[in-house]
Amino acid sequence: MAAGGHGNGVESVVMAESGKTFYIETFGCQMNAHDSEKVIGTLEHEGYRRVETEEAAGLILYNTCCIRDKAEQKVFHRLNEYKKMQGEGKQFGVLGCVAQQEGNRIFEKAPYVSLVSGSASYRNLPEMLVRLEAGEKRITGLDDRQTEETFDTEFTARSNPHRGYITIIEGCDKFCSYCVVPYTRGKERSRSSASVLAEAARMAAQGFTDVQLLGQNVNSYRDPLGHMTFAEVLRAIADLPGIRRVRFTTSHPRDFTRDIVEAISDVPAICDHVHLPVQSGSTAVLKAMQREYSREWYLERIAWIKAARREISMTTDIIVGFPGETEADFDQTLSLLDVVGYDAVFAFGYSPRPNTPAIGMAETVPEDVKAARLQRLLEAQRERQRTAYERHVGQVLEVMVEGYNRQRGQITGRSSQNKTVNFTTTQPILPALGSYGHVRVTQAYPNSLVGEAVHVPHVVGLAASGLVMA
Ligand code: 5AD
Ligand code: SF4
Repeated sequence: MAAGGHGNGVESVVMAESGKTFYIETFGCQMNAHDSEKVIGTLEHEGYRRVETEEAAGLILYNTCCIRDKAEQKVFHRLNEYKKMQGEGKQFGVLGCVAQQEGNRIFEKAPYVSLVSGSASYRNLPEMLVRLEAGEKRITGLDDRQTEETFDTEFTARSNPHRGYITIIEGCDKFCSYCVVPYTRGKERSRSSASVLAEAARMAAQGFTDVQLLGQNVNSYRDPLGHMTFAEVLRAIADLPGIRRVRFTTSHPRDFTRDIVEAISDVPAICDHVHLPVQSGSTAVLKAMQREYSREWYLERIAWIKAARREISMTTDIIVGFPGETEADFDQTLSLLDVVGYDAVFAFGYSPRPNTPAIGMAETVPEDVKAARLQRLLEAQRERQRTAYERHVGQVLEVMVEGYNRQRGQITGRSSQNKTVNFTTTQPILPALGSYGHVRVTQAYPNSLVGEAVHVPHVVGLAASGLVMA
């Protein structure tokens, strides 16, 4: 691993008065959010204390994303702000995908940065921190992308005490032609099912009831010891005492197997929601994207999901304006909204990424055409959701209580299908955060539901929650 050749003596590093402190800001996907929880846990184990502002911190870390160009620009904007803080004895570290992509160039652009590390190197953080504390200037963790190892840590500092992530697979070997992830997050590697189950059991013992399995392609999971399939892992976690909900994201159509649908049909604790990014409805565009499936292949998996014995909510990601996408290709994508009936669509204009195969493709779609298509797609989906969510009106849904909206006099919950349900209760006391209750849905919006509590078992006193409903 390159140390940067700047180990010219030990400089004393001025830490904030109360010892070693750090501030961390996270951009990007759930994988990044969960990586930060692991990084925070590791730092705390190494004697650092987390603070809420850059001003109060001795060490400032940015966990970055470069999936699309705006995310990247945001990081460089924030890095520029670092400049203003120079000379205050602070140390700076850039983590995550921009760190991996830009590597040593970050030191050129921002010489006040001392640490640059991609996610495949986080398991070496304790060692990197020792070097940082010794005043070393250009510490890198960039060379571990071919690793077989995963970043499992017992120190993970989960931000929510009821609902938490477990990474079961890191990296990606799919190499879609538009995507940086295989380059930034490295080789695909799965954890053993025994370690995944042990972590889930530990979480259950700590009081977590909702567990979300994470992976860039979560269903590409392959137990390195060959003991369990992905669907079996879902069932085993759902079986653990105390676990009430198991979620998973993101699924790849190529590896989406029927036994996943069977598991959801059989086990109420496996949540009735599948996020299955399609990217395009046109087989020609899918081919150029190197997705390794056709429109028909994708729709066959959708048909399995629709045939399940429970209604399963479906959501997707779509890229608009990929090179070569014609109006007819785009119409094929639009038609998916009706054919599939998604509950949410995350759509993005194609953004050329450095070093990816698609960057050299001819027939680029002009920005104004891309923007217009994106707008049309989002409007069509919004219109759909306006009526789609109405199917829940009159239903009684189980929700986990996630927050209170004092202004509106509402409690916010989340359904098994991952929908936001805002509800009122006639009880004078509020349900505790993390408790489960049942809500009768009375109204539907395109992105949320509204209802009334019919049964809220666990309650806390007003004094305990400090909140009074309006
Ligand atoms: N341009 C636009 N969108 C992209 N995504 C990934 N790479 C790109 C890119 N180069 C989208 C995909 C993916 C989601 C996380 O981000 O839709 O599923
Ligand atoms: Fe962004 Fe992809 Fe990295 Fe997640 S893995 S932070 S989405 S570039």
